[in-house]
Amino acid sequence: MAAEKRDSVLVIDFGAQYAQLIARRVRECRVYSEIVPHDISPDEVKKRGAGALIFSGGPSSVYQEGAPLPHPAIMEMGLPILGICYGHQLLARELGGRVEATGIREYGKTDLDVTGESLLFDGLPLHQMVWMSHGDTVVEAPEGFRVTATTASSPVAAMEDPRRKLYGVQFHPEVVHTPMGKEILKNFLFSAADLLPTWTMVSIIEQAVEEVRGQVGDSKIICGLSGGVDSATAAVLVHKAVGDQLTCVFVDHGLLRKGEADQVEDTFRRHFHMNLVHVKAQERFLRRLKGVTDPEVKRKTIGEEFIRVFEEVAREMKDTHFLVQGTLYPDIIESGTRDAARIKSHHNVGGLPEDMDFTLVEPLRNLFKDEVRAAGEELGLPEEIVWRQPFPGPGLAIRIIGEVTAERLAILRDADEIVVEEIKRAGLYREVWQSFAVLPDIKSVGVMGDERTYAYPIVVRAVTSEDAMTADWARLPYEVMERISNRVINEVKGVNRVVLDISSKPPATIEWE
Ligand code: XMP
Repeated sequence: MAAEKRDSVLVIDFGAQYAQLIARRVRECRVYSEIVPHDISPDEVKKRGAGALIFSGGPSSVYQEGAPLPHPAIMEMGLPILGICYGHQLLARELGGRVEATGIREYGKTDLDVTGESLLFDGLPLHQMVWMSHGDTVVEAPEGFRVTATTASSPVAAMEDPRRKLYGVQFHPEVVHTPMGKEILKNFLFSAADLLPTWTMVSIIEQAVEEVRGQVGDSKIICGLSGGVDSATAAVLVHKAVGDQLTCVFVDHGLLRKGEADQVEDTFRRHFHMNLVHVKAQERFLRRLKGVTDPEVKRKTIGEEFIRVFEEVAREMKDTHFLVQGTLYPDIIESGTRDAARIKSHHNVGGLPEDMDFTLVEPLRNLFKDEVRAAGEELGLPEEIVWRQPFPGPGLAIRIIGEVTAERLAILRDADEIVVEEIKRAGLYREVWQSFAVLPDIKSVGVMGDERTYAYPIVVRAVTSEDAMTADWARLPYEVMERISNRVINEVKGVNRVVLDISSKPPATIEWE
């Protein structure tokens, strides 16, 4: 069945801190939304099937030289437009209103009064809290607009011209600090712009499936599985699209957490009946890691070995021309507009060969992480995969300080399982960004029964984070730490002490190596 035709809302990005957030909020209202550069041409806007435009905020002043402006014909296209913050000021200035640097900066939660009949505020309270962050102020709306809201410092906090379908708000409806923000966006999308809420999980999946079919035809396709949610969802989507044309390759480097390899087998081979090549390369990796203690050498060694194994498998699949990659929408936004997809060195596991002649298939390239999770759930992936915390490609090797041996891997794996179990039992697993055990390269003295022990400590590392760029140590309840400590010391042979890592990032990193 053909995926339902849908309008997209293009978020025209004037350098906003919140452009991604705007697109996400719009999608939460079940309308597809993409971020596009501010100088997008009217032709491109048409090509992308835009049903409405949102002019984002941005750091510039509309009067600054070189301030980003939209293509002049964009506002003549007859598309509904919502200007937010800088976008609001831009509409005001371009259409003949007045914007001034009043010297009064409005920042933070601000009281807003709705002052007249308004489509954007339809059905919403006349007094409400909104989030402001601006220097310049619209002091006079352009002709044809009515002023629909004010604040103490913004005489034109919102304005609209329903005839031309043009709307502007000085505040940020996309942030949670504007409690009615989503309702205001909905009024724009569904009343002002007359869009339909067609961006549902079912349509997301249908569309991705159709695209993969179109791209791959009847060729063969290979997908590397890591056990994480992105590669798993990508694999299941591609399998839904082209079935047995897909072969999944799972390289078990022996550096995974307890039960992970079995789960990959269970999920993909037994549940989804996929072609799965499970390469059991534990010994090979251990051999390469023998005597390696330097963190960077460790990472490189694992990366290189991974490539070698993957190449060997790929060489045997000579007639395979496509490779699935779990690239997400934020990666695409960050790298700007990308050329035809060819393998880049970055890969979840630390690099795939540059010279492999595959064309990439990126079925998640339009999705945010939360949409990937929802799609994974919809496609029937188990909760443990869908909600798994991020895990580094080099695996447990970079959580073992010093040499990686089979014995030390076993200690860490057992301790890690307990940490994760207890965090889950306390209901904290989704709240915490990552929680795991680290095995340092020291031993300390303890006493167990009447015996002196000389054994390893285990470090508990649990952090909260939004995106792993910065992180804070998680304030785990004492009872949870107590259970972890008791259980690790009692149940894991070779450990006699548990310590807690209370460093944030920066200056520490999340992983220890
Ligand atoms: P750090 O330790 O730099 O880690 O604070 C930031 C995030 O990245 C993960 N990480 C990796 N992920 N391959 C990956 O796919 C890697 O080599 C790698 N190294 C670190 C780490 O777990 C954290 O989420």
